[in-house]
Amino acid sequence: MSEASGPRGLQGNLTNYGDAGFALFLRKAFIKGAGYTDDALDRTVVGIVDTGSGFNPCHGNMPQLIEAVKRGVMLAGGLPVEFPTISLHEAFSQPTSMYLRNLMSMDTEEMIKALPVDAVVLIGGCDKTVPAQLMGAASAEKPAIQLVTGSMLTGSHRGVRVGACTDCRAFWGRYRAEEIDSEEIADVNGRLVGSVGTCSVAGTASTMACVAEALGVSLPGSATPPAVTADRTRYAELTGQRAVRMADEGLGLDRILTQGAFENAFRVLLAMGGSTNGLVHLAAVAGRMGYSLDLDRFDAMSRETPVLVNLKPAGSHYMEDLHRAGGVPRLLRELRDLLNTDELTVTGRTLGEELDDSEEPFPQDVIRPRDRPIYPAGGIAVLRGNLAPNGAIIKQAAADQDLLEHRGRAVVFEGAEDLARRIDSEDLDVRADDVLVLRGIGPVGAPGMPEAGYIPIPRTLARQGVKDMVRVSDGRMSGTAAGTIVLHVSPESAIGGPLALVREGDIVRLSVRDRAIELEVSDEELRRRAEEPRPEASPPPPGAGRGYRKLFTEQVNQAEAGCDFGFLRAETDRGPVPGPASVSASTAAGPGRTDD
Ligand code: FES
Repeated sequence: MSEASGPRGLQGNLTNYGDAGFALFLRKAFIKGAGYTDDALDRTVVGIVDTGSGFNPCHGNMPQLIEAVKRGVMLAGGLPVEFPTISLHEAFSQPTSMYLRNLMSMDTEEMIKALPVDAVVLIGGCDKTVPAQLMGAASAEKPAIQLVTGSMLTGSHRGVRVGACTDCRAFWGRYRAEEIDSEEIADVNGRLVGSVGTCSVAGTASTMACVAEALGVSLPGSATPPAVTADRTRYAELTGQRAVRMADEGLGLDRILTQGAFENAFRVLLAMGGSTNGLVHLAAVAGRMGYSLDLDRFDAMSRETPVLVNLKPAGSHYMEDLHRAGGVPRLLRELRDLLNTDELTVTGRTLGEELDDSEEPFPQDVIRPRDRPIYPAGGIAVLRGNLAPNGAIIKQAAADQDLLEHRGRAVVFEGAEDLARRIDSEDLDVRADDVLVLRGIGPVGAPGMPEAGYIPIPRTLARQGVKDMVRVSDGRMSGTAAGTIVLHVSPESAIGGPLALVREGDIVRLSVRDRAIELEVSDEELRRRAEEPRPEASPPPPGAGRGYRKLFTEQVNQAEAGCDFGFLRAETDRGPVPGPASVSASTAAGPGRTDD
């Protein structure tokens, strides 16, 4: 194990006064004003990234976690010092938290670089926070360890167990279909979220928690304990202890976030039936290390990776059940022969060594054995075609299996506002076998690629009992959502992608078997449409020409590159992820749900 080198603790990252001795003298004088002794200030300094906010109930246990991390740091002989960064909650981020993720990553990176910390504990949880922290820490090049806030507890409504946010959507869908009344929807509103913590299904927060553990950037077993449990607090203490050791050992993320580690993360994303957003975030984190997502190899990996975790929305359980069933270590044991077990983790040991010491399997029904999967292969499939030359994805494990091969008339919406205005109109010409197309919600178009890709079923059809339709957009959807929904169409319509050329009534073909998303319109006609003068663009909204919005729309890249800013990517190119040796060719098992 290599030792840390360079100035340590308070002596690191001195402010530039042109006199290093004076800079340290001044720094110590100020911090002594807060009551620190020289003994404390001579220790290894562990920064604790505090993302608590009154607007972020997913991080509502932040004070307890910080206290426990501090205890761990001090038990290991270090000095813990917390500092704040931006905090993002899905429901309190206009226009969308994705718009602010890169800003949070920049905040995280620059504060880690600026402060005299020998290592950092990143505490995050809500969807964009763990990706932002990993992106920032990857670029900051200091030892870092992730601690997630943990999932919320489930609630109960009229004897039925409920949890955010798959059940939020299910109940809202029933309300739209007039199956339940306004009194019941008001009742359920107070029961969906049982405590502070992150969403209790395989949404993006849970996905990123599990993916972080698979990447090796958080402690084995730490992804799944709910927010308000003793296990969660114990992991916080252990994380603090480990951060001191990482600082002393000089164990940086460059040795952990390798090609093989990203492959392990993709496996877990697929095997847990995780959020499609996880793929975008992993592409962004990989880009910070110089790797580029290879969508076709990811699809090949998907074909040979069964969905094993029985979590909503693809399955029926919640995160607290996954924790009781053995959590990520148990899942990794099931996947062991598909993993790169020599990859180093934050413990300083390899993933294989950690699995050797993990809890022996016991009977449970949340993490299935390989011969009895929830879905045999390909939880997420990559699609291509004349509608998505650079790719699109579908979470087929959470789709209506009868719609995976489908042709239908396009019903087109020009952006989220148009959708909101017309989707419930009694005059909307729409049939159950149509394809709902929503454009203008990509990274540049919206901006921020909002989760509007989960296009609601038009009210006229919902009332008739229609539960799912093929939907296509250049946006994203929440990992908690389900349906036959094609997302991340690239290039997006706002930068001239072919989605902009779809006309009302065109036939769209989805074939997950062929990995195809096609517009059945001739190339010649598409060329003609592309050359037609575009309708006058509406004037940009006030403020669009300055500040962060200007930076965002000028710099954000497409979904397959993680929607990161181009200038934040690593300067050294390290090649594709997954790498060439990651998948055995022609192992596709073909889609189709197993019979239980
Ligand atoms: Fe924070 Fe779902 S809203 S994790």
